[in-house]
Amino acid sequence: MKLPTTLTLSRRSGETEEFLIRQCEEADLFKIIMLQQKIYEDLSDPGIYAKVDEEDILDSLRKDYCCAVFRGSRMVAFTMMIVNRVSPRNYGSYVGYSPQQQEKSVSMEITIVDESCRGFGLQKLFVALREEKARSLGATEAFVTIGPDNKYSLQNLLDSGYEIIETRPMYEGAMRHILRRQL
Ligand SMILES: CC(C)(COP(=O)(O)OP(=O)(O)OC[C@H]1O[C@@H](n2cnc3c(N)ncnc32)[C@H](O)[C@@H]1OP(=O)(O)O)[C@@H](O)C(=O)NCCC(=O)NCCS
Repeated sequence: MKLPTTLTLSRRSGETEEFLIRQCEEADLFKIIMLQQKIYEDLSDPGIYAKVDEEDILDSLRKDYCCAVFRGSRMVAFTMMIVNRVSPRNYGSYVGYSPQQQEKSVSMEITIVDESCRGFGLQKLFVALREEKARSLGATEAFVTIGPDNKYSLQNLLDSGYEIIETRPMYEGAMRHILRRQL
């Protein structure tokens, strides 16, 4: 999918909305932080989402693939993929991948959708968008980590072809599944 683009998406209820999707740049940092903070504060179980530091988001805005969805001028969803580069942030490093393997692996790091825009399938759309980008960069595997109790996110990733390869304590001791998919 070529970005920016405008998409009309529907909820199961039939409700329709128009969204703009575009790649992000450094100037978007504040909006991303504010969206992440709002979503984090509204979580019924804060254990299911580990906030990503401002520093890492900025690093990714410079080096990785970051996209946001807007309704009008308001950012309502954001996603980020660490591209296939050697880094302690490459999830391949969590499972002992060598630098050569990391150069073929991407990590799906953030997906957040504002409560008012859930149910339009934006997470699955973000998965497809990032996978398309990953393939174009020569990656052959994608990783994601998900809290076992994060049922919507887990279902979306399982539906998208990801498989749980390990479950262990990760971010500040919170349990996470590590999922992987061949691209
Ligand atoms: C996980 C998340 C991105 C999914 O958003 P989404 O792509 O809009 O969800 P979907 O379109 O797949 O929604 C499917 C259904 O689940 C519902 N749903 C999705 N997330 C929900 C949530 N957190 N709470 C309650 N219902 C939710 C939708 O309303 C929809 O219901 P319907 O089928 O009755 O219409 C979103 O819930 C979110 O931002 N959660 C907080 C952050 C998070 O956990 N991110 C993922 C980290 S791995």
